[in-house]
Amino acid sequence: MASEGKNLIGVDIGANSIKVCEIKEKRGARSLVRFGYYPLPPETIVDGHIINAGAVVEGLDKLFDKARRRNIALRASGHSVIIKKIAMPLMTPGELQEQIPWEAEQHIPFDLADVNIDYQVLHERRDQGQMDVLLVAAKKEEVSDLANLAHEARLRPMVIDLDAFAVQNVYEVGYGVPGPHETIGLIHVGASLTTVNILADGTSAFTRDIANGGDAITGEIQRHLGVSYDEAEAYKLGGDGRGIVPREVSDVVDQVVDQLAGEIQRSLDFYLATSGDRQLTRVFVSGGTANVRALLDAIHDRARVPVDVLDPLRVAQAASTVDPAELQSHSAQAVVAMGLALRKERERHV
Ligand SMILES: Nc1ncnc2c1ncn2[C@@H]1O[C@H](COP(=O)(O)OP(=O)(O)OP(=O)(O)O)[C@@H](O)[C@H]1O
Ligand SMILES: [Mg+2]
Repeated sequence: MASEGKNLIGVDIGANSIKVCEIKEKRGARSLVRFGYYPLPPETIVDGHIINAGAVVEGLDKLFDKARRRNIALRASGHSVIIKKIAMPLMTPGELQEQIPWEAEQHIPFDLADVNIDYQVLHERRDQGQMDVLLVAAKKEEVSDLANLAHEARLRPMVIDLDAFAVQNVYEVGYGVPGPHETIGLIHVGASLTTVNILADGTSAFTRDIANGGDAITGEIQRHLGVSYDEAEAYKLGGDGRGIVPREVSDVVDQVVDQLAGEIQRSLDFYLATSGDRQLTRVFVSGGTANVRALLDAIHDRARVPVDVLDPLRVAQAASTVDPAELQSHSAQAVVAMGLALRKERERHV
C-alpha cells in the first residue's frame, strides 16, 4: 500500500469508551503526541448500533476541543462488516475487479445494494493456479451513520478500518512482520466484541468476531451479586474504592473468562484444523479486557503457547505532551486507535 503525507488521527469509538491517538513521524521516528480517552455512558452503543449519538458527539467534541487537525481514521464496528477469505483462480487485476461482484453475491449474506465491497489479494498460489482474496463487505447505512456522527463533531473521516487490521498494523510495525515459520494469534477483547486474527505466511490468514467481551464479566458480577452496573464494573477493576472486593467476584470472573477462552480456542482450532500442519507460535492479547489476568491464563492453558499483552508503545514513543499515567492505565485499550493513527492522509486503497 503506497502511503505518504501526514498521519491521520486514530479515532476508536468503542462500546465502552472513545480512544484517540495522534502520531507524528519525523525522519522515520514516530512519537505519540496525543492520547485521549473518554468513557461513554452505559448503553451508548449496543450490539454495534449507536443508540445515544449525542453522547458520542459530546465525547468527540471534548477530545478534539480546539484541535486544528481534524482528518481522522475511524474504526468501524465488526457488527457492521463481514470479512471472508476466498480462493479464486489466478487472474489479472482487471478480471478480478469484474469477477468480485459475482463472488460477493455468493459469499456475502446481504443484499449487495446495501453494502460496500472492498477486496485485497492476500497471496497467489501459482503452483495451484489459485489466489487467496480477502473480501470485505461493510453495511452502507451503519458506516455512513458513523461517518455522519464524525462530521457532526466537525471531523473528517478519510479512512475506515476494522479492529482486526488496526491491531495487525500495530503488531507488524511494532514487532515486525511474522516470518514464514511463525503463526501469530492476535486476540482483541473489548467490552462487547472479541476479534481473532491469525497471521500466517506474513498475512492475515483467518479472522473471526465473537460477540462477547468484558461486558459479559461485568454483567455476570451484576447478576450474581445483585449490584448496579457501576458497582460491578468497580469490583471487576479491583475494588469499590476502598479495595474491598466480595469473595464471589473472582469465581464469577473465572467462570466468564473460561467460557470466553473456550470460544477463542474454538476459533484457533478451526483455523489450525484447516491449515495443514501449522502450529500456533504465540498469542498477543489487546483491548481493555487484556487487563484481566485470568483471561490470559485461561488462553494460555488451552493454547499452550506464550501469551502476552500487546504493547502499542512499540509503535511510537510517548511525547511529553502525553500524560504517562493516563496512557499507562489505558495502554491495552489504545491499540486500535494506535493502529489507526499509523494510517496516512494519502494512502491508495483498493
Ligand atoms: N484494568 C482492567 N481490568 C479489567 N477490565 C478492564 C480493565 N480496564 C478496562 N477493562 C474492561 O475492558 C473493556 C473496555 O475495553 P475497550 O476499551 O477495549 O472496549 P471498547 O473498545 O470500548 O469496546 P468494543 O471494542 O467492544 O466496542 C470494559 O469491559 C472494561 O471493563
Ligand atoms: Mg474496541
